[in-house]
Amino acid sequence: MIAKARGYVNIAFIKYWGKANIEKNIPLTKSIGLTLDKFYTETKVTYDKNLKEDILYIDNVKATPNELKRVSNFMDFIRKEYNIPYYAKIDSFNYVPKKAGLSSSSSAFSALALAATKAYQLDLPQNELSRLARYGSGSAARSVIGGFSIWDNKDDLSSFAKSFYDLEDISLIITMISKSPKKVSSREAMLKLGEYPRLKTKWIKKTNRYLNQITKAFINKDYRKVGIISEKHALLMHKVINKTGINYLTKESYEIIKLTKSLRKKGFYVYLTIDAGPNIKIITNNETAKLVYPIYEKHVESIICKPGKGVMIID
Ligand code: PMV
Repeated sequence: MIAKARGYVNIAFIKYWGKANIEKNIPLTKSIGLTLDKFYTETKVTYDKNLKEDILYIDNVKATPNELKRVSNFMDFIRKEYNIPYYAKIDSFNYVPKKAGLSSSSSAFSALALAATKAYQLDLPQNELSRLARYGSGSAARSVIGGFSIWDNKDDLSSFAKSFYDLEDISLIITMISKSPKKVSSREAMLKLGEYPRLKTKWIKKTNRYLNQITKAFINKDYRKVGIISEKHALLMHKVINKTGINYLTKESYEIIKLTKSLRKKGFYVYLTIDAGPNIKIITNNETAKLVYPIYEKHVESIICKPGKGVMIID
């Protein structure tokens, strides 16, 4: 009754921000994201009939009560859904800074969803695994899938991510402005949007419009447009977040934004996206990534990522 899984982080090109159903973690809108080939979490789940509660270690350290509560709630859901009668020892190792806007919850909960079901000899189809991971963390629904995926928001049973597009010639340069945990979690921050109904309606309308535009851009292989729309949508998300009284960006974030815009003026194919944290991700192609990487690295530690595989079982 043991299984170990690895999940890679997933970075959205059209962001998920806000929940239509908090309890079931159904998002307000669809989102599109790319699973990367670097930054991952490895999680081992061992069911043990002698345990009276779950035990969680993260990076060899006993989890805090809050961390344990979140993971145990998710495990309770899995136990109920699949009639699993045991508590588990869970060992999780992050090869990504936690809670720094680098999407560590996408890698963590996709790995946990797979390890927790596989340890009980369950072989879930991809759709079901993605739906399950959604209950742990929204973006984890997309991390189940390799490459680009789209995560639907219709209802509980159909709100999972599925493969969306194949693209080899794409790189994301992750600028590691801060590896520290953020003060307000994305979960907490997202709930704030519920307090601003008019802002929420506008956000949904604009997101749906960007989603249609980016879908067309992908179909037309217009990757410049893909970059433009991703950047616009990420900046819109941060404008919306600011209006709810939260700011994730720092002075260094603005410097990297400025640098990206100036490189673009010089003709480089570079666009940016930002999640709930100060770290800026540069969307580019493989050749440009090599050219501009040293420029970013001069400012801040940076890592080039490519499209990666969906969540997987490992030894
Ligand atoms: O799924 P969560 O709770 O980690 O929230 C993800 C939120 C964003 O990273 C800002 C956007 C996204 O779609 O990944």
